[in-house]
Amino acid sequence: MKATRPSFIPSFSERVIAWQKVSGRHDLPWQQGGDVYRIWLSEVMLQQTQVRSVIPYFARFLERFPTLEVLAAAPLESVLEQWSGLGYYARARNLHRCAQILVHERGGGFSAEPADNAQLPGIGRSTAAAISVFAFGRRAAILDGNVRRVLGRCFGIAGGDSPARDARVLWDLAESLLPESDIETYTQGMMDLGATVCSRRKPSCDTCPLQGICVARYEGRQTDFPQRPKPKVLPQRLSRLLLFCDGRRVLLERRPPSGIWGGLLSLPEWSGESAERFAENQGCRLVDTQSLPPVSHAFTHFRLTIDVLLCKVEIAGLRAMEVRWQWLPLENVAAAALPMPIKKLLLTLPLQG
Ligand code: ADE
Ligand code: SF4
Repeated sequence: MKATRPSFIPSFSERVIAWQKVSGRHDLPWQQGGDVYRIWLSEVMLQQTQVRSVIPYFARFLERFPTLEVLAAAPLESVLEQWSGLGYYARARNLHRCAQILVHERGGGFSAEPADNAQLPGIGRSTAAAISVFAFGRRAAILDGNVRRVLGRCFGIAGGDSPARDARVLWDLAESLLPESDIETYTQGMMDLGATVCSRRKPSCDTCPLQGICVARYEGRQTDFPQRPKPKVLPQRLSRLLLFCDGRRVLLERRPPSGIWGGLLSLPEWSGESAERFAENQGCRLVDTQSLPPVSHAFTHFRLTIDVLLCKVEIAGLRAMEVRWQWLPLENVAAAALPMPIKKLLLTLPLQG
């Protein structure tokens, strides 16, 4: 038998909706207009990046690729360039592939049905639901990291030993909580609650609309939810790179399309062969070399240590090179589409002179 709730006690979704109307975010750029292309783009950018960082990228991306058709017709390289600095470049490659599939194989647009969109590259179950909610007003549940935390705390679901079972429990719960109407406000409310009030380290329970029904708050165990996964020991990888510089320019190579930083310009990889030979092949003469202190960068699945051999060179005469090679003037480094650790390395080096 279904338990009945006295009508004077607001339901979970009523609390979230009422809070969102007063205290949630209403002026995010992708909230204006309800255009599915913009909503999809924002959701993909927001998958692993915070709102504050996404906003400027979102505006620039739309200026360069104003429609799905323009994006589908653009070269992947230009998409990666607009993405550079946001990280997780698989998102940009999937975005581009997704646009091409929609334009060439799916009649030019998204379906309103979450299950259809969840089959497209780069769109998981939660992103598919968010698109259907915000663009088509469909009733569907989202479950991103923030929403997991809110639900885990409110209902006292710590999770732990079986991630698959945790996911099933949380998805079922998320679906059972959906309101009959006002799905957009509710969904945005869940996102905003998780991003602002129910933050990971310091939840502001005193301003939370769920404070009266929250298990974690009642037990004073907010930060026990979700249970911390065992700290992962990331596998280590080493990359050796060459930094050829004549005092005014650095030598860059476009990386192969797949793998880390696929398609982006970066410093050339060095397998350890003679740097003189390498210099010769690039039409320059090696003057001096110096090993730089290693740089470390954490990816999702491994930690990369980057060893850089700084090579002072004289360019014997610029000659026609394959298009994957470029001599980039140092003053253009800041604006170039480089992976962030490489850009930082180049910007912090006293290369001039
Ligand atoms: N995170 C993921 N999607 C979002 C959205 N539409 N608004 C704010 N934060 C989000
Ligand atoms: Fe999060 Fe506190 Fe609200 Fe519970 S009461 S959902 S812990 S902010």
